Amino acid sequence: NPPNLQMEESSGLRQANCRAKGGSSGFKVAILGAAGGIGQPLAMLMKMNPLVSVLHLYDVVNAPGVTADISHMDTGAVVRGFLGQKELENALIGMDLVIIPAGVPRKPGMTRDDLFNINAGIVKTLCEGIAKCCPKAIVNVISNPVNSTVPIAAEVFRKAGTYDPKRLLGVTMLDVVRANTFVAEVLGIDPREVDVPVVGGHAGVTILPLLSQVKPPCSFTPEETDYLTNRIQNGGTEVVEAKAGAGSATLSMAYAAVKFADACLRGLRGDAGVVECAFVASQVTELPFFASKVRLGRTGIEEIYPLGPLNESERVGLEKAKKELAASIEKGISFVKK
Ligand code: NAI
Repeated sequence: NPPNLQMEESSGLRQANCRAKGGSSGFKVAILGAAGGIGQPLAMLMKMNPLVSVLHLYDVVNAPGVTADISHMDTGAVVRGFLGQKELENALIGMDLVIIPAGVPRKPGMTRDDLFNINAGIVKTLCEGIAKCCPKAIVNVISNPVNSTVPIAAEVFRKAGTYDPKRLLGVTMLDVVRANTFVAEVLGIDPREVDVPVVGGHAGVTILPLLSQVKPPCSFTPEETDYLTNRIQNGGTEVVEAKAGAGSATLSMAYAAVKFADACLRGLRGDAGVVECAFVASQVTELPFFASKVRLGRTGIEEIYPLGPLNESERVGLEKAKKELAASIEKGISFVKK
């Protein structure tokens, strides 16, 4: 190497080592599927998160390109790229948080369940790697159908003997983000002031916004309730149709994923009162998994909150949601068992 290049490389290394050490106060985060529509903006936003000291970007395509690009951002996290199955283990070793947006998205006319055949296998393989290389990591599953991929992850971890239900979370944050936005529009207030609990699961009628529990306290006409419930349940389809074959929500999803990952990291750091909705192993209903508000802490999920009082239309919605959810959960579990 010419001398100046050598110098540049060694000083680059020195910086990386120094930051990695100095970053012992920060967390190590891996994104699996980092070159995708969600993965790329998610990687960018995580590189901007001051709680992250090391960011591993894994994909089966284009990981080096995305890594080179993101690594030039002058923020604290050290970025490393990993390409293809043979590098999966290196991507995972030592991680505190693993975020999974790997897999195919919907096209117009498809349900999330139509993605099962491809994404189930992808999530299974990635979770086998997690069980082997970072069994204590918090896992955020974004890949659809979340109602089935979270049970798949649980079953893989159970088989490997590493399952800790407190550390596995299906990301339903986008439903909450949409609900906050749409409710704020109807109320004519700032979405940042709105908090809508969204429970159940992450597909169609399993997405159950609890409009009777919106903060700040408010009430809706039956027409507003129908409009909002419908729009929140079909928000994903609204984007799929608008993109007309070019994929599903990626930018709002990356925003939601970072909001959720940041909550998990604040919990790990020991912050008090970190509460978000997520699809988790649960005893809130008779189903083995259910989305509701959870409190995040140093060990992952530290408390799961009950649904609270539901009005008549929410009770009807809950029964519908549970019926579809039960089948999706069973489908995920039996995929790994067979
Ligand atoms: P995309 O197709 O743009 O990106 C997916 C990425 O995963 C690609 O870069 C691909 O190379 C990668 N990938 C495929 N197989 C892999 C493997 N075995 N290991 C690692 N990476 C692999 O899709 P997009 O739009 O980023 O969506 C990703 C997933 O997120 C889809 O399943 C989609 O349905 C889901 N999603 C979930 C939402 C939620 O609220 N939980 C919201 C929106 C999308």
